Amino acid sequence: MTERRQAISAQIRALVEEYFALGEVPGARGTARVPLHVPSYGAEEVNEALASLLSTRVTMGEKVQRFEALWADYVGAGQAVMVNSGSSANLIAAEVLRSPFLPRPLAPGDEVIVPAVAWSTTYFPLVTIGAVPVLVDVDLDTFTLDPKAVEAAIGPRTRAIVAVHLLGNACDMAALGALARRHDLYLLEDACEAHGAEFAGTRVGAFGQVAAFSFYFSHHISTIEGGMVVTSDERLADLARMLRAHGWQRDVRKKLDVPNPGIDERYFFVNFGYNLRPMELQGAFGIHQMQRLEPFIRTRRENAAYWGQAFAKYADRLRLSPGREDRGSRSVWFGYPLSVRPEAPFTREDLTRFLEGKGIETRPIMAGNFRDQPAIRLFPHRIAGGLPNAELIMRASFFFGNHHAIGEPERAYVRECVDEFMAGRR
Ligand SMILES: Cc1ncc(COP(=O)(O)O)c(C=O)c1O
Repeated sequence: MTERRQAISAQIRALVEEYFALGEVPGARGTARVPLHVPSYGAEEVNEALASLLSTRVTMGEKVQRFEALWADYVGAGQAVMVNSGSSANLIAAEVLRSPFLPRPLAPGDEVIVPAVAWSTTYFPLVTIGAVPVLVDVDLDTFTLDPKAVEAAIGPRTRAIVAVHLLGNACDMAALGALARRHDLYLLEDACEAHGAEFAGTRVGAFGQVAAFSFYFSHHISTIEGGMVVTSDERLADLARMLRAHGWQRDVRKKLDVPNPGIDERYFFVNFGYNLRPMELQGAFGIHQMQRLEPFIRTRRENAAYWGQAFAKYADRLRLSPGREDRGSRSVWFGYPLSVRPEAPFTREDLTRFLEGKGIETRPIMAGNFRDQPAIRLFPHRIAGGLPNAELIMRASFFFGNHHAIGEPERAYVRECVDEFMAGRR
């Protein structure tokens, strides 16, 4: 029986390999010629996930652990705790900071500085823990926190900064780190869009007390849905493990010093907790996606360099964002952003409508200026200073796809389409 099963497994593997060897799966791109994103996986991931399914070991286990170790090593942080989404990773990062086991946990009403341009679930976890998000402006080269705006926003109740590495750009971690040290603030990183981005030679995720990554389908690498909490503090990693799974102590490396009055150790609950666990299938995807990450990033960077050169001649009408490349940093280009200057003789909508008509998908910069989203009315917050850049991004910026499946023909096609649009508007 075992031999027969092995033979069937081998056949399945071979068939899956043959299936993917036929080339791009029909419909994988949708109907667009240059889609915002395409699948990033192939036979290796599917076979690894199928092996888990066939073995019936499908809940969080050894493959998740392997992916965690690979990711911690890649980021250069001590520990990684996989969860079911980037939003869950942000939730755990926030929850860790209000943990009663910390010497100075966040208290209700404490303020946390966040960029005005981020994703909805950058903000909501802060609200969940009773903190007050303080929205500050971002810069237009990288779409990340403007350190001057952060400094101006720090008040008596400020306890933390969330550095959101938007669109594959590292925040200025030198400036933010200095502010955090000077004002005794926690530094969190939302690195959901920035796999492998670097600031001054250090990968994002290795700067703050806790960092969050997302492996959603459209990100640099993907586990379909999935996320990772990263920290170099073993105690925080254990708190994250408890928060991930029910608040029990079962998965921790070092047990908390809480007396056990004789309760079964497997069902001993000492902390808050949710159920944010990934499946083993997601770990299976992750371990193979790792090998693809650096080549994927290389392609994105080549595309960005090409478009940067091609569109430089339109600098009077389009504002390019060069990304974070200064001081030995590396942008990993979540997409390719453009902003239409106010003095341009056309609107963003004119340009995006034209590109969409050519089969080039476009979208706004994440959640835009969150100050203007109706959901902001649902929770206490503070707006620090004017948000002129966030306003401009909301009104005039967009991005199109920049990913591993965009090679020379596609990037040339995008250039030709932009040239055609510009030629019609002299
Ligand atoms: C900056 C940022 N934070 C958080 C998230 C949430 O990640 P997920 O979609 O995996 O929940 C995203 C999603 O793309 C994001 O871009």
